[in-house]
Amino acid sequence: MSIMVKKISAVYPGSFDPPTNGHLDIIVKASRLFSEVIVAITDNVNKKHIFSLQERLNLVQKSIKHLKNIKITSFSGLLADYLEKINSFIVIRGLRALSDFEYEFQMALMNRKLNKKVETVFLLPEQSYTFLSSSMVKEIALLGGNTADFVPKYVDKELKKRVVNLTKN
Ligand code: COA
Repeated sequence: MSIMVKKISAVYPGSFDPPTNGHLDIIVKASRLFSEVIVAITDNVNKKHIFSLQERLNLVQKSIKHLKNIKITSFSGLLADYLEKINSFIVIRGLRALSDFEYEFQMALMNRKLNKKVETVFLLPEQSYTFLSSSMVKEIALLGGNTADFVPKYVDKELKKRVVNLTKN
């Protein structure tokens, strides 16, 4: 059931390396609240990514092709500047646990400081995803564990291939 009240778009930024079922859950929830959700993929300068920006774009694309009101893009530079460029000022972020709060709170306030039009909306994931993170999924995959329950099918397949390549080199 959709509870959308206004024609308004929102941006869900992240590094999505790789996108998990937790990310997807947030995208689905946001798609019910906003007329358009722009998934904006970027490099997080504090993280070492195993998939390139283009690959992550493709992974998200393949995972959400059943949803209608989603646009997938990438950006570089500051999120606050990107939002100005596309004239969309609502940022979606998932809040899994109290431990996310400090980082997310800082980021939301900093984005608003950089561009005062920016507001961040926090969505709570389903409880079953609160323990999930992209780093954990990568670690499990690299150590030969099964990640099928944590990521979309296509991502799982690509992750397995990437791990084989990474461990070969
Ligand atoms: N379910 C499961 N996992 C979730 C989740 C959910 N609902 N919500 C977040 N996560 C996890 C992710 O798996 C990821 O795990 P990891 O830390 O192990 O990789 C982590 O929480 C957050 O990742 P993600 O949502 O992909 O985003 P990010 O924190 O890597 O992205 C940016 C942060 C890209 C939004 C931020 O760095 C940014 O805006 N960069 C642009 C530059 C800029 O403007 N900098 C100044 C910011 S104030």
